[in-house]
Amino acid sequence: MINEPLILAALQARKNAYAPYSEYHVGSAVLDENGRIWSGCNVENASYPATICAERVAIGKMVSEGGTQIKGVAVSTKNGGVPCGICLQVISEFSANREELPVYCRSDNGEIKTYRFSDLLPIDFILPEQQDRTNNG
Ligand code: THU
Repeated sequence: MINEPLILAALQARKNAYAPYSEYHVGSAVLDENGRIWSGCNVENASYPATICAERVAIGKMVSEGGTQIKGVAVSTKNGGVPCGICLQVISEFSANREELPVYCRSDNGEIKTYRFSDLLPIDFILPEQQDRTNNG
């Protein structure tokens, strides 16, 4: 079942994308453990590597307001792109159950593909002291 409000929040946030360099506009939204939705857009910079992806903007908003777990992710782009590798790693940090975490990717043709997070990032990076974590692939 697709989470429509989450996708709508990603679409809405994308309107604010600041992407004068790539002209690739991204909107994202994450659902937290309390059912709250946090959205974000990409924020580019003249110093290109300083750019922040939409997903990490949304996650930063969630964490800074007290959210601790991501239960769903939505991304809106022209071509239905999935979150980049850096964003997958950041999503992983806040996902308790990677097998059950849906990632909805909406393309401008209206198509929504639903991925399982664990299919996009089968194994994440962890530190030695996290080795006993149960949700690592
Ligand atoms: N971008 C995102 O916002 N999310 C991703 O997962 C991949 C890439 C942004 C970064 C940059 O502003 C533009 O898309 C082109 O890479």
